[in-house]
Amino acid sequence: MNAQPTPALSSDDMDAFWMPFTANRQFKAHPRLLARAEGMHYWTADGRQVLDGVAGLWCVNAGHGRREITDAVAKQLGTMEYAPTFQMGHPIAFELANRLAQLAPPGLDRVFFTNSGSESVDTALKIAIAYQRARGAGQRTRLIGREKGYHGVGFGGMSVGGMVNNRKFFGSSMLPGVDHLPHTLDIGHNAFSRGLPHWGMHLANELERLIALHDASTIAAVIVEPLSGSAGVVLPPVGYLKRLREICDKHDILLIFDEVITGFGRVGKPFAAQAFDVTPDIMTTAKGLTNGAIPMGAVFSQRKIYDTFMQGPENTIELFHGYTYSAHPVACAAALATLDIYAREGLLTRAATLSSQWEDAVHSLRGAPHVIDVRNFGLIGAVELESRVGKPGARGYEIFVKCFERGVMVRQTGDVIAMSPPLIIEPKQIARLVETLGDVIRETA
Ligand SMILES: Cc1ncc(COP(=O)(O)O)c(C=O)c1O
Repeated sequence: MNAQPTPALSSDDMDAFWMPFTANRQFKAHPRLLARAEGMHYWTADGRQVLDGVAGLWCVNAGHGRREITDAVAKQLGTMEYAPTFQMGHPIAFELANRLAQLAPPGLDRVFFTNSGSESVDTALKIAIAYQRARGAGQRTRLIGREKGYHGVGFGGMSVGGMVNNRKFFGSSMLPGVDHLPHTLDIGHNAFSRGLPHWGMHLANELERLIALHDASTIAAVIVEPLSGSAGVVLPPVGYLKRLREICDKHDILLIFDEVITGFGRVGKPFAAQAFDVTPDIMTTAKGLTNGAIPMGAVFSQRKIYDTFMQGPENTIELFHGYTYSAHPVACAAALATLDIYAREGLLTRAATLSSQWEDAVHSLRGAPHVIDVRNFGLIGAVELESRVGKPGARGYEIFVKCFERGVMVRQTGDVIAMSPPLIIEPKQIARLVETLGDVIRETA
């Protein structure tokens, strides 16, 4: 289907929008404008069809333009466009929380709503610290993140995160009392692993070292992405997450999984916690919750955490935290419609069905020029390219732009090209995505 070309923007028209995580001047000189989307595709402002290899930004898991979501949103806007959830409530917020609790790993059945992944992370960190206080361990305030971690852009998420460019400009404004585990990317040992790498489980033992340094009695929580996307797809070695869980249990430290990317079917189960058979104490989500249609996040907590807050006089507000738009009714409607689609079309487990074909496809790029690693898990793939001398990221950017010009959208982080298509992708579209990337890599010096 062709889109009507939309009028071109002049560079003056683009001045006012300070674009996020974008090289603004470079982009505005050579814009890539998306105007319409349906199914597996975007259409550009000048009417070109582009295969979406990243589900927007890892969020449009059920594909674009889902009529059921649009209808649910329109209906909710017509019924009640907004309602507060501070000392008030509305039925679909409770319905959504119940539905989510049923999908979650056992015990993670208390749900706090936010509007984004960053807010989910900051909410989870605040719950963890306030929980320690509520149970009489108020000296446990330290947070442990991980190098290469991405937990959004709030001050909390930035502090526990481990991506240098996201941190260095804000250096002295980080939360105090944060330390970091080493990351688990080791191309020397694990290059071209199919699925989870086998080397590196022992890296989880670094948590014992940090505990020995700070003492368990000062640590509230450890937060990791079970599988990190934004830093260029970094996978947990086999056994690594289980080991983290064991160490946290031993020292009575909360384990938080940031499932903003991995939640809602990306790795073949509703959540990565289920795929890896490791249950955290708190789990953050966003993105796929509403198929990206309306901003929304959700933080899942173990019931024991919630119950710890439910003490004292009943007229006490137990957690002084929340957002004007927590459980926004329109977002709730979008999420419920999204969950219906996921259930009806089996999308929360479809990645597991596709993953061996996906793995073969992405590993076919091994041997292409400058490819130094290929990584995959669920419906996530990454190709790491050797950096040009003195120009890190230049090759990755060129490949990303050329793919887009050839009608395929991938995501570039430095010299890593990441792919995470909508879970409705068909085998022939997997082939097209990977073949286009391969052609472009072969043509790029
Ligand atoms: C693991 C993880 N946490 C948090 C976030 C932040 O989410 P948002 O951009 O919705 O604030 C992201 C975004 O990519 C993410 O991948």
